[in-house]
Amino acid sequence: MRTDTAPAVRLADYAPTAYAIPTVALDVRLAETGTLVTATIAFTRRDGTPAGAELVLDGDELDLVSAALDGAPLAPDAFTASADRFVLKAPPAGPFALTLTTRLDPATNTKLMGLYRSSGTWCTQCEAEGFRRITYFLDRPDVLSVYTVRMEADRTAAPVLLANGNPVEAGDAGDGRHFAVWHDPWPKPAYLFALVAGDLAVLKDEFVTCSGRRVELGVYVEHGNVARVGYAMDALKRSMRWDEEAFGREYDLDVFNVVAVGDFNMGAMENKGLNIFNDKYVLADPDVATDADYAGIEAVIAHEYFHNWTGNRITCRDWFQLCLKEGLTVFRDQEFSSDMRSRPVKRIADVRTLRSHQFPEDGGPLAHPVRPETYKEINNFYTATVYEKGAEVIRMLKTLIGDEAFRRGMDLYFERHDGDAATIEDFLACFAEAADEDLDAFARWYRQAGTPTVDVAEHYDAAARTYTLTLRQTVPPTPGQPDKLPHVIPVRFGLVGPNGGDMAHAGVSGAEVRGDVIVLTQPRHTVVFEGVAERPVPSLFRGFSAPVKPNVGLSLSDLTFLMRHDGDAFNRWQASSTLAMTMLVAGAHAARRGGVPRADAAYVDALGEIVGDDRLDPAFRALMLAVPGENDVARELGDDVDPDAVAASHRALRVAIGTRLKPVLSTILAAEDPAAPFAPDAAGAGRRALVNAAGDLLAATGEAAALDRLAARFSAATNMTDRLAALTSLVHRDAPQADAALAAFVERFGGVPLAVDKWLAVQATAPLGRTLDRVAALTAHPAFSFRNPNRTRALVGSFATLNPTQFARRDGAGFDFVADVVRRLDDSNPQVAARILVAFRSWRSYEPERRARAEAALRRIAAKRPLSRDVADIVERTLA
Ligand code: PHE
Ligand code: ZN
Repeated sequence: MRTDTAPAVRLADYAPTAYAIPTVALDVRLAETGTLVTATIAFTRRDGTPAGAELVLDGDELDLVSAALDGAPLAPDAFTASADRFVLKAPPAGPFALTLTTRLDPATNTKLMGLYRSSGTWCTQCEAEGFRRITYFLDRPDVLSVYTVRMEADRTAAPVLLANGNPVEAGDAGDGRHFAVWHDPWPKPAYLFALVAGDLAVLKDEFVTCSGRRVELGVYVEHGNVARVGYAMDALKRSMRWDEEAFGREYDLDVFNVVAVGDFNMGAMENKGLNIFNDKYVLADPDVATDADYAGIEAVIAHEYFHNWTGNRITCRDWFQLCLKEGLTVFRDQEFSSDMRSRPVKRIADVRTLRSHQFPEDGGPLAHPVRPETYKEINNFYTATVYEKGAEVIRMLKTLIGDEAFRRGMDLYFERHDGDAATIEDFLACFAEAADEDLDAFARWYRQAGTPTVDVAEHYDAAARTYTLTLRQTVPPTPGQPDKLPHVIPVRFGLVGPNGGDMAHAGVSGAEVRGDVIVLTQPRHTVVFEGVAERPVPSLFRGFSAPVKPNVGLSLSDLTFLMRHDGDAFNRWQASSTLAMTMLVAGAHAARRGGVPRADAAYVDALGEIVGDDRLDPAFRALMLAVPGENDVARELGDDVDPDAVAASHRALRVAIGTRLKPVLSTILAAEDPAAPFAPDAAGAGRRALVNAAGDLLAATGEAAALDRLAARFSAATNMTDRLAALTSLVHRDAPQADAALAAFVERFGGVPLAVDKWLAVQATAPLGRTLDRVAALTAHPAFSFRNPNRTRALVGSFATLNPTQFARRDGAGFDFVADVVRRLDDSNPQVAARILVAFRSWRSYEPERRARAEAALRRIAAKRPLSRDVADIVERTLA
């Protein structure tokens, strides 16, 4: 298969299907070999379709056993069927039903799309186009049908039989087999179909909805794991309550089930009433899960649950509208986590993720709008841009129109589009109406790729008592989009006075100002504040009010001032990050010339004061201690990047902080209460984050005593957060105690796959010359398998994305290794292969030697035959 000529799908070509599918009845007979699926699909001709118009169904690697029309076998010349298409040449004019039987082999389905097996459990993944690997269908999101599913399997192999909707019937099927029938009353697109059959343990609970309906909840896991699902169940109940309170959304079936499987391409999937999860986002106990894992579980459980309304009850008309459900649902899960935990801490964490994942995407060869207009492989558009930037766009909308109009717009959206397959235009129209505002210019955020830059200049006129900000936006060119229009950009601001409080002003001109938000609409605004008593320090983009790169050019002393005094916690953190970034960039340039990076003492002292301030949230103080990462610095440098120079600069700044702040960091460590019981809440997580950040910075200095203390912390740890933090510091610092700690870890946790992932990732991300050899050797470790996406991502994915110096080794060996893995995975699991390949996206920003090595590795991937559409699409765009 030569797929680089795959035709692009275009938004502009959208047309509804010729036929609709009101109902589907599936009969699934699961067996060790040769699973049979019989689908009875009812069709009706849509208005405007001429009678007899041919019916073309999608398929993918299908094997048709039999075909019947309205119960009678189809004559061979009445249809054609291949692995990827079924055509009924002359359908009846009135409603009709096709009964198609396909034979599947789930055990050899290594793509993990369609029906496959994960350690013995049969499960499905249908988004985006997996249903066509189960039966021939109109496999697109604007075809909504009511499903009834009868499934049958061996009673011992699969005592548990689950599908979407409500259970209707179950019983014996003879021969040691049994069956279950499920019915989902809510019409849904095929991508939301799911079934699970296996020998699973369950935790049950119930939820009473706001209108008093009882919902039976179940979380299904492999036997032995049921003790680890309590937190996920609790998060589910909190999500259900929160969606009622925050958005007025009630659950709509009698049961809600979650199943955790070990082999899963993504995080989790919102199938109606039957969410299927990567077990990483379900299983947790303090011994194997970190605080970050707990927070991830809470967020993903919420995310998938929230899809029940934003995604399922209202779905997408076509895959170009993916952000309609994803951006909105990410926004909703972010709000949920903010309410459950600390809002500023959550915001800082989300912005860090956006900058480290979405900004490089938006600034590189894979840049695309939040709503793309063309794709070759839809799997490659489940991106940080669609998800995270998509959520930022919703957040800006809320900032611009205000909380109340936003809520009215959401209510209108749910009311008007329930049951629809909708578009971004449908969505925005609800807010335009609710806010009585024209959102046409705002809608550019959905169409234009690229991260805007906002350059700011300031002037204070003491005589006139005016303060002037000149704000200039530029939206950079991106692939296929050379010219851009200005965006509507909300700038939440404060004018910080000498006492640290926000100063008043007597009026503004030059831009619309709504409360504390300046609304930019033009390429350039000169905003004049009247009646300003003295020169303020501007605090702009508070709370990261827009996904842009501000360039305010504040002095070191202004930034240190904001770091200490800004009333907005996000901007205190931002000021600190900006300062650190300035030093890191200067340090990287210095290191490149063979010089020594230097840290600004005033910055480190301000940092020390904040970090030592017990009145502040420990989680916030921990975030302050985390200086921007090496990849962030590389992005800031933009081109001619030498990752070794960046790493040297990064190390030097951390050593400087660790050295100068030794007293306060030691006090934090000493104040830890080792007997404190573990609770996975925000407060406990914050305390641990601060202690571990302190320990890590002290270890960065390489002092023997600090390393000894870490080794002791590793051995004494009573939870995975502390254990993994200590292990990471030891291994990454190449401490003498590192190998013994790694051995002890795998000795104890070698049988727990999610803990093995941490062990693999710690080694893969070590910035050491021997790391690549280790990683290569670990691919042969009995606990590792390329068949499992989590193992593969933990070892190879984290090496490629989180180990900048070793992936981008000057000799090209890191690139070659990852390219070999991509080539190998391309045959078994193209989706995972394509994701790992994305690590090359910034290859053009390396210095010339590394750039040439990366390009050679990319060309070797491009030359592979056959090459999956997933990998072909990414490699072509990356090289373009
Ligand atoms: N729709 C899933 C989610 O975000 C993601 C997903 C996409 C899962 C494709 C599997 C396949 O929530
Ligand atoms: Zn989602």
